Order: sequence, then structure tokens, then C-alpha cells
Amino acid sequence: MRVIVPLQGVVQGTGVFWGSVIPCALLYFLQLYFKSKRRQPPSSPNQEDSTTFHRCLSPAPSPRRATAYISPRAISITSSNSPCSLDPYHHTLNPDGVIHLTFHHNTLSLDLIQDWIHHNGTAALFGTPLAISRILPYQPLHVLLDLKVAVAGFMSQVLENLIFFNTSRMVLTAGSTSAIEILSFCLADHGNAFLVPTPLSPGFDGVVKWRTGLEIVPVPCRSTDNFNLNITSIERAFNQAKMRGLKVRGIIITNPSNPAGKLLDRETLLDLLDFAREKNIHIISNEMFAGSSYGNEEFVSMAEIMEVEEHDRDRVHIVFGLSNELSVPGLKVGVIYSYNDNVVAASTKLARFSTVSAPTQRLLISMLSDTSFVQKFIEVNRLRLRKMYNAFVAGLKQLGIECSRSSGGFCCWADMSRLIRSYSEKGELELWDKLLNVAKINVTPGSSCHCIEPGWFCFCFATSTDKDVSVVMERIRRVTDTINGHS
Ligand SMILES: *[C@@H]1O[C@H](CO)[C@@H](O)[C@H](O)[C@H]1NC(C)=O
Ligand SMILES: *[C@@H]1O[C@H](CO)[C@@H](O)[C@H](O)[C@H]1NC(C)=O
Ligand SMILES: *[C@@H]1O[C@H](CO)[C@@H](O)[C@H](O)[C@H]1NC(C)=O
Repeated sequence: MRVIVPLQGVVQGTGVFWGSVIPCALLYFLQLYFKSKRRQPPSSPNQEDSTTFHRCLSPAPSPRRATAYISPRAISITSSNSPCSLDPYHHTLNPDGVIHLTFHHNTLSLDLIQDWIHHNGTAALFGTPLAISRILPYQPLHVLLDLKVAVAGFMSQVLENLIFFNTSRMVLTAGSTSAIEILSFCLADHGNAFLVPTPLSPGFDGVVKWRTGLEIVPVPCRSTDNFNLNITSIERAFNQAKMRGLKVRGIIITNPSNPAGKLLDRETLLDLLDFAREKNIHIISNEMFAGSSYGNEEFVSMAEIMEVEEHDRDRVHIVFGLSNELSVPGLKVGVIYSYNDNVVAASTKLARFSTVSAPTQRLLISMLSDTSFVQKFIEVNRLRLRKMYNAFVAGLKQLGIECSRSSGGFCCWADMSRLIRSYSEKGELELWDKLLNVAKINVTPGSSCHCIEPGWFCFCFATSTDKDVSVVMERIRRVTDTINGHS
């Protein structure tokens, strides 16, 4: 049986719904602006245009048609996981719908963003007096320097540390997914491999592999290590890949990890640097959930380590995701911060396929420069994430389901191995199926995250409301009660 898990961003649901609110708002402002200008209606299309149009539409019918060619690499993508039916839950409009806990998005603090846009959005986009020329002309340099300066300030605020971010090392992309893909493209050749600790978010494979033709070598993190990164495991995976004839070019770490939500401490980061040096490989530090760390431990960015590390900086590359930090996934803004000048130069060129639109840039420059708003947002958002995380963990615990302790991100990483009939991927998927079809709860099974231990599930909690929590737990009880009753 195939696992059907909605890939991030592919399907619609509450997370994506809210994510689309902001771009819609932008469009609305634009329309308002044009309306107020009362432009002349465009002249009707001339004769020549309409004949050309006509000709294009009526090709000579051919009796036998060959199938249009599609590249095998495109076909290989179509065979991956397909989204499952949505039928999304709504407490009044669709109370029997499916509750999707598969979106790695955060809508807990969307009200703060909405409020800011309500008060400041128009001025941010069009300035005062209103000037459409601020957002419509082509921007040859892709990204305004003002935005890089604002992002540098914002990252320092998120990391709660006065780190100097050099804007010359920064490349902005349409989302952190794009940032990771561009780095993968720059650091390795077709057929090369990256080490990637697991469990990892479903869909991450595709980002690294689809267009670049790279391989992923999973490095399993185990429950006995509390799903923390273990250098011995990395070393083992590296050697095994080498024996298979793979050329390993780097390791991609996600900090806090997703879905397990573990932070990498200073010691581990330094060990990783030593390892990368010794094997002559790169490190991509994916810190797209940095601002979503809500635990008691200190979050240490690779950028902080680099402040004091003088050597081998050119093998270190950091990815930030503004969309997640600000819970505006619809705005799609990611950051590559690389200490390697060649990588920055190449990424800058590649980023033309993944530009941040001018209105988005304008909006973010104003929002990120509003430091008191940003400060308040970061604090409130952390509190709300922690509260919702605790509510989910407590609710699951009452059902006899323990979660591995997370310190960041949007997921609970839950151990449901006690509830599976056979300790295997098959048993795990049977339980997943019951959760979806009996409890109407869509969660991500660990096997979709490359977890090697059956029975772990990822519950994304950050698109839920307080009211949803009790509904979710009641529904899961339908499944746990029958299983416990039978045993
Ligand atoms: C945004 O709007 C609020 C409320 O009107 C105001 O206090 C604040 O100064 C504005 N921020 C910016 C950056 O204009
Ligand atoms: C910023 O980075 C560029 C490119 O690596 C470098 O030439 C410049 O000296 C750096 N600026 C500072 C202030 O470190
Ligand atoms: C790493 O895993 C090995 C076994 O594979 C174990 O002996 C060791 O204690 C682990 N290290 C840490 C730091 O957990």
C-alpha cells in the first residue's frame, strides 16, 4: 500500500487557506488602487490580432497523433505520493470532515500579522502619497538591499543575539524550499549524495532530488538517543554510502529538527564542523524553524558558531525561512546565507527562477523594520506555540500516547507503537488508515519521514485552535478504545 500524505503546499487546507489570505490582500490593494485611478478602457483589439488568434485555434486535424513526449525525469516525479482527499473539518460547516494535522505551518499568530497589515499594509506597499511605481517596475537586482538589511536585523532579533549578518552573503529566494534546492544544485553533481538525518519532513527528499538528480543517504536518529543527532551514526552512514560507490558532498541538518523538534547544541555543531572538515564535505544548516523554538534550551544558530570559527567557513551554508518565522507561508521568502563567495554568486544567478515579488519585498521591509512589532510577535508566537504543544502532549498522554519532547517547530512526535498490531511498516500504515477513516484524523506516519522504528506519528499542531484540541483527542479515542478493548 502506498502512503498518501499531502505534500507541503500542494493541497489546500486551513494552513494554506490562511497562507493565501495575505497575497489576496495584496491583490485587493492593487485593485483598489487601479479603481481609484479610473483608467481609460483599453482600445479594442485590432483586426490583425484577432486573425492571428483565430489561426492558432484551428490547427489542421491529423488522423493519427503521436503521444506528446514527456521527459522520464518528469514522469519519475509524477509517481511519488499523491495528495489524499481533503474534505476539511470545520466546526460548524463540516463537523464530520477530516482534521488535517499534516501542515508544517503555523497559524497561531496570524491575527497579529493581520492587524499589522490592516494598519500599515497600504503604506508599506504604496508609500505615502500612494505611488504604484513603488511596486510595479522590474527590479533588475531581484532583491532590494533594504530587504536584506531588514532581514539581517530580523534574524538577529529571532536569534536573540547580536550576530552580524553580512548582506553580501545573503541571497533571497521564494521560500526556504527553493533555498535548499539551489544550494543542493550548487554543492553537488548529478548522482552525488547528501547525508540527511531522519526522521525528516515528508517531501524533503523531492526538494533535494527532483531537479538536481542527487541522492539522499538517511542517517537514522533513534528513540534510544531521544532522536538526537549521533555523530557515530553519521560516520557509519557516510562509510556505508562510500562503500556503495556514492560520492557524499555534504550533510543537511535541520535545526530545530522537523518533525522531532530537537535542538542541536553547541557541542554537536562543533563536532559536525570537525566531521565536515575531516571528510571534506559541506554543511547545510536548515534553520527555517529557528524562531519557532519554544523549549527551555537555548537555540544555537550555526551563524553564532561561525562568528568565532575562522577556518573552513566556505563549507558552511545556512537557510532561514521568513515565511515560517512570521507565519506567512503564502508570502514565500527564504534566505540563503553562505560563507562561500562562489556559492553566493551562483545562488544569486539561480535565484532568478525563484524571485520574491516586489510587493512582497515592500511589505516585508516595512514589517521587519518595525522592530517593536517584531519583538512582540516573536514573544507572543513562542508562547502560543508552547501552549498548543503542551495541550496536544497532555491530550495524547491521557490517551496513553507518549510524545518525544520537542523544543521547536510545529509537530508532536508521538509514539503509537503500542497501538500497532504488527511491529512493522504495515502495522503502522494500518493504524494510519484507521486514524484517517475511523477517527477522521490525518497525521503523518513515521515511515513517510524515513523513520526506521515503526509506530511513530507526526501531529502538526500549529494550525489548530484551542477548540480543536478536544475534538482531536475525542476522535483519536474512538480508535484507541477499540484497540485497547480488543487486546
Ligand atoms: C503601524 O501601525 C501602528 C498603528 O497604527 C503604528 O503605531 C505603527 O507606528 C505603524 N508602524 C509603521 C512601521 O508604520
Ligand atoms: C561581506 O562579505 C563580502 C563578501 O564575502 C566581503 O567582501 C566583505 O568584506 C564582507 N564585509 C564585512 C563587513 O565583513
Ligand atoms: C551513538 O550511538 C551509539 C550506538 O550506535 C551509542 O553507543 C552512543 O552512546 C550514541 N552516542 C550518543 C552521544 O548518544
